[in-house]
Amino acid sequence: MAILLTGGAGYIGSHTAVAFLDAGVDVVLADNFDNASPKVLDRIEAITGKKPKCVRADMCDKQAVEKIFAENEITGVVHFAGYKAVGESCRKPLKYYRNNLDSALTVLEVMKKHGCTRFVFSSSATVYGDQPAPLTESTHTGDCSNPYGWTKYMIEQILKTACDADPDLSVVLLRYFNPIGAHPSGMIGDNPNGIPNNLMPYVTQVAVGKLPRLNIFGDDYDTPDGTGVRDYIHVCDLADGHLAAIRYAENHVGCEVFNLGTGVGYSVLDIVKTFSRVNNLDLPYAIAPRRPGDLATVYADPKKAETVLGWTAKRTLDDMCRDSWNWPKQNPNGYEE
Ligand code: WQD
Repeated sequence: MAILLTGGAGYIGSHTAVAFLDAGVDVVLADNFDNASPKVLDRIEAITGKKPKCVRADMCDKQAVEKIFAENEITGVVHFAGYKAVGESCRKPLKYYRNNLDSALTVLEVMKKHGCTRFVFSSSATVYGDQPAPLTESTHTGDCSNPYGWTKYMIEQILKTACDADPDLSVVLLRYFNPIGAHPSGMIGDNPNGIPNNLMPYVTQVAVGKLPRLNIFGDDYDTPDGTGVRDYIHVCDLADGHLAAIRYAENHVGCEVFNLGTGVGYSVLDIVKTFSRVNNLDLPYAIAPRRPGDLATVYADPKKAETVLGWTAKRTLDDMCRDSWNWPKQNPNGYEE
């Protein structure tokens, strides 16, 4: 028996694979390697002592997904597979709607055919749009500011109505806040293609000397130091949240949603100062104009995950900054030699 991790070779997928294997939960990874490297599999084995089965497949390819279920006893799915670049989604909306919706629907249809009823979905705080923090699971959703966010919102609606129609289906929606960091071994980590869009991978490329400085997008927000405030969560805490979620799905039916955040907001300058301090290095930066679509303050109320899933984030901002640096320090070219 195994849990299928679609997109399992990616940043959050690979950390989730490590957490599951370390907990004695067998996994099968499926990835088309559009945004992942096959080399992560050897790293997962080096960390856990177990090399998970991995199938190179696109989750929009129904025959390929069918083959995975025919050849493995899949007892649940954690669905990471999907495109996730906000900016690209604005430039290529049809690519995002086609890929993200098609892959989710394909996996759900094959699951139903094989009697697999547990589905954990990689959703995002972006479904809240511009709502006042702290964000709870009952905060209004649906004012998404980009096609990527709309795909997450639409898939949440698909899953809620699928559960209404199928009393055996058990779905957990996990709304991530801002995942950063890496496994403390420094052997796996965030490995974006090209110039990073997100803050921490950009910071680490400045620190490793690939980029000259960090551009801080605005210092005139209504926040303590004027820079954007976000709820950064260690990717290993996020991975542990998926383990709690699939276990919850084993004992419940219906659709349940959880915020996975720390409940604490830190500014861009907090990240810069903490990263510099814990890693003892200077980080050159300049103040740049605001990035269109950015919000001032986003952070979670994580109480529901604590009381219902028995999960809380445990790693500190120091841990997140130290582990974020450890990965590129040991792997300046990511998974490429
Ligand atoms: C964080 C803060 C920026 C880069 C996005 C997606 C969201 C989720 C997480 C998938 C903001 C500032 C950033 C830089 C900067 N992804 N920043 N200079 O925008 O909160 O969320 O990633 O689910 O869906 O929207 O994350 O890391 O891009 O930005 O000043 O070079 O850092 O303005 O305040 P964001 P981010």
